[in-house]
Amino acid sequence: MRVLGIESSCDETAAAIYDSARGLLAHRVHTQADLHALYGGVVPELASRDHVQRVIPLVEATLGAAGLHAEDLDGVAYTAGPGLVGALLVGASFASSFALARGLPAVPVNHLEGHLLAPQLEHPAPAFPFLALLVSGGHTMLVAVEGVGRYRVLGETLDDAAGEAFDKTAKLLGLSYPGGKALAELATQGAPGKHRFPRPMLKRDDLDFSFAGLKTAALLAVRALPPAGTATHAQARADLARGFEDAVVETLVGKTARALDAVDGLRGLVVAGGVGANLRLRDALTALGAARGIAVFFPRLEFCTDNAAMIAYAGCQRLLAGAADAPVIRARPRWPLDELTPPIAQPST
Ligand code: KG4
Ligand code: ZN
Repeated sequence: MRVLGIESSCDETAAAIYDSARGLLAHRVHTQADLHALYGGVVPELASRDHVQRVIPLVEATLGAAGLHAEDLDGVAYTAGPGLVGALLVGASFASSFALARGLPAVPVNHLEGHLLAPQLEHPAPAFPFLALLVSGGHTMLVAVEGVGRYRVLGETLDDAAGEAFDKTAKLLGLSYPGGKALAELATQGAPGKHRFPRPMLKRDDLDFSFAGLKTAALLAVRALPPAGTATHAQARADLARGFEDAVVETLVGKTARALDAVDGLRGLVVAGGVGANLRLRDALTALGAARGIAVFFPRLEFCTDNAAMIAYAGCQRLLAGAADAPVIRARPRWPLDELTPPIAQPST
């Protein structure tokens, strides 16, 4: 079965074609980061308008890269949520109409399920059940992934996502959006321990996160920096970045360790989402895995950040199991993972 996947939940427009027999045939991503950089964050209406302009050329380029035509497809999968409603509607409307016009089934896919199944695009893929730490600009969660459609959310952020905290602190330090990577680079010049930020909720027994307070601590610390142009300013700024990064990393790793202890039978730890690119986080999680004798799996970054390959893959699994949807356009800004059920294979007739 060959499935076209469409992703447009936030600031990436993406298309991909997944073949159940041959694997991923092609995938393309257009990021709007430059468009939103001017505003220091995603502007929802600009995002929707850009998706409108990009989606058709992107699908054509993806079909071309796979050497296929629309007639060669067996189904369409699209991100139906969670995400920005206007952005979701663009992908959902395009995918549903494309499918309807060709008599193909269209399947709405949960974006988070996409992220959790993205590592299955790798060879070898991690074995179920595994613990997933999903850390991106929009999400921070720990999930026990038992199989397709079988997810147990163990903990999540009560306010800001880890990537969002990185981006907001980077902005306070005058770095351009999205600033997580630049902040991490600045932190390499900083000394550990000079700035001690709180480790939010690390002492609590649960597996939830909260990063909003850390952002306020960062604001106060930035205000207390020696004035720009003075001899100590540059080093103090780097020390602050290092202190902030250490606080986020230690919090993420501490809760991940607790989740590994809480769930029996886990066969690995998978790290997904853009913050998974952070080298200090990678090193700390690798060390954690080694200490617990558990395999740590980092999918390629192109499958960690928003993409349509994961949507095509997840949709394909559901279509293969006989999922069918009425010809309606679905867009759900909120769609908790706990509401998903495994796809049930239909008896063949
Ligand atoms: O998965 P992704 O593309 O998420 C969303 O679009 O939500 O991840 C983007 C996030 C941004 O917040 C970005 O600043 C952060 O991942 N990020 C990093 C690093 N590289 C990207 N954060 C910390 N360290 C990095 N090296
Ligand atoms: Zn995402």
